[in-house]
Amino acid sequence: MTSRLPISPQVFAIFSALIAEKIGIHYDAGDRELLGDKLSVRALDAGFDSLLDYYYFLRYDPAGVAELDALIDALVVGETYFFRELAQLEVAVSELVAPRVAAGGRPRIWSAACSSGEEPFTIAMLLAERGLLDKVDLVASDISPRALSRARAGVFGPRSLRSNAPPPPFASRWLDVAPDRVVVRPELHAAIDWRRINLLDAPGVSSLGRFDVIVCRNVLIYFHDNTARWVVSNLAGALAAGGSLLVGVSESLLRLGTALSCEERGGVFFYRKTAQ
Ligand SMILES: C[S@@+](CC[C@H](N)C(=O)[O-])C[C@H]1O[C@@H](n2cnc3c(N)ncnc32)[C@H](O)[C@@H]1O
Repeated sequence: MTSRLPISPQVFAIFSALIAEKIGIHYDAGDRELLGDKLSVRALDAGFDSLLDYYYFLRYDPAGVAELDALIDALVVGETYFFRELAQLEVAVSELVAPRVAAGGRPRIWSAACSSGEEPFTIAMLLAERGLLDKVDLVASDISPRALSRARAGVFGPRSLRSNAPPPPFASRWLDVAPDRVVVRPELHAAIDWRRINLLDAPGVSSLGRFDVIVCRNVLIYFHDNTARWVVSNLAGALAAGGSLLVGVSESLLRLGTALSCEERGGVFFYRKTAQ
């Protein structure tokens, strides 16, 4: 039984273009073997013994839509964990969300590309600790059906707590931690509106409405600059006037160029929409 299908430079080129078009993830020529391995697993599982046949199926056969979802699950990098880059989320809640509630508003927060959900659950814990959980709308989305079904289940493995720092003191109020699993309390579940959204899909993004805070961390790094610019413009369009976008601590939008203005609070950088 073949376990690896050959991938010529030409087949790599059409697949990497298809993947960039559908989900944004960018593969360099040096990634040919890596991508070939991932594609082979899916192609063989779907009953194909040629990557070119598999490509035509994905690209042109109406039945290829479900297989594209399986391929998305195989390609995305779902690395995430509770309390990741926590200082950023604390500043977002204390400096951007809490004042809006205090002013009588009902802020809307979106954790875009949330993977299996540890990020929006962390935001929900921070909100709950301040008594704000029922005073905001919290939306969380990802493109990966598998990641979203894990998020919705709210049951995680011990590695979901793999942050370098020990969990914050409030963690025990919201997570039931056993040696083999971590279970999220139901109050947090009830507060999150889970959606499947492709960040490249402008109508899909705008269907969510406008947000006061968008957290989109550790995903732009997988995109080519032009794709990242497109995604940032979609996200900027989904910000309310005065709203803020947060990206990962190792990411910056300044290199890409953006109409959003970069600001800093408490050592945390974010990008604010100053005009409508
Ligand atoms: C490394 S995880 C980041 C998770 C979380 N934001 C964090 O920082 O811990 C990247 C996530 O981006 C998602 N993703 C990749 N391409 C996407 C796209 N075009 N639209 C929406 N989500 C996407 C992946 O499915 C994956 O779950």
